Amino acid sequence: MSGGALTLWVAVPYVCLTIFVVGHVWRLRSGQLTWTTRSTQLLERRLLRIGSPLFHLGLLAVIGGHVLGILVPEQATEAVGVSESMYHAVSVTAGTSAGIAMTLGFAILLYRRTRVPRVSRTTTAADRATYLLLGIVILSGMWATVGVNLFGGGYDYRETVGPWFRGLFLLDPDPALMSGAPLVYQLHALAAMALYALWPFSRLVHAWSVPIAYLRRSPILYRRRAPAPDAPFHPRTETRSVS
Ligand code: HEM
Repeated sequence: MSGGALTLWVAVPYVCLTIFVVGHVWRLRSGQLTWTTRSTQLLERRLLRIGSPLFHLGLLAVIGGHVLGILVPEQATEAVGVSESMYHAVSVTAGTSAGIAMTLGFAILLYRRTRVPRVSRTTTAADRATYLLLGIVILSGMWATVGVNLFGGGYDYRETVGPWFRGLFLLDPDPALMSGAPLVYQLHALAAMALYALWPFSRLVHAWSVPIAYLRRSPILYRRRAPAPDAPFHPRTETRSVS
């Protein structure tokens, strides 16, 4: 195995994933007040209202596709009766639709960030790097899905990219699997790794603060109409003399 392949498909991923983990711990301990989307909703709403849901809903579907295509081994889907051709048909259709939504959303958000002066003035160096890497990851992913698997000759990434990626977490990555993959898959994986390394230092940290608890909790109660039976005293609804 060449040193180049070891560097690209073993050393670089582990360095990026280590930065991802250690960077988050550092950011959590030192930069709690900067742990935010740095939302610009007050500066521009119209484009954000279209671009943000398109991007995020597309992303959710893309993540679902990645879990199925990269984390679940081909043998597991075959064992439950999903043949390679069935998987291919579903993955290309769903992947293309999800990818189109995400790409459109990204294009609107990018336009808004670069062309709306009030928004572009708030753009930091970390934002620029995030947009650049996201752009490369999304375009290369779309190239692979649409260019190679929908209209091209096709490529079964579940025999190479998938096992390599899982191998990283099993501490046994096989660099040969990736060095034989088409260039566009290599570019996609490397740009994604760079994005993971940038993640803790960017506004992407907001992804871990999605207020899911809001969906389950009861509506906010600002004031009770009457004091609860066991409440000893409620200053707004009762008066009592204090001796
Ligand atoms: C190292 C991590 C990743 C690996 C190994 C990976 C691998 C892949 C593979 C194999 C495909 C399918 C290509 C095809 O159908 O031929 C794909 C597509 C895609 N990926 Fe990734 N990916 C990674 C991370 C990401 C990230 C972080 C994003 C977005 C932020 C992303 C966005 C996309 C998009 C938009 C597509 C095209 C739509 C789709 O098929 O879902 N990927 N990726």
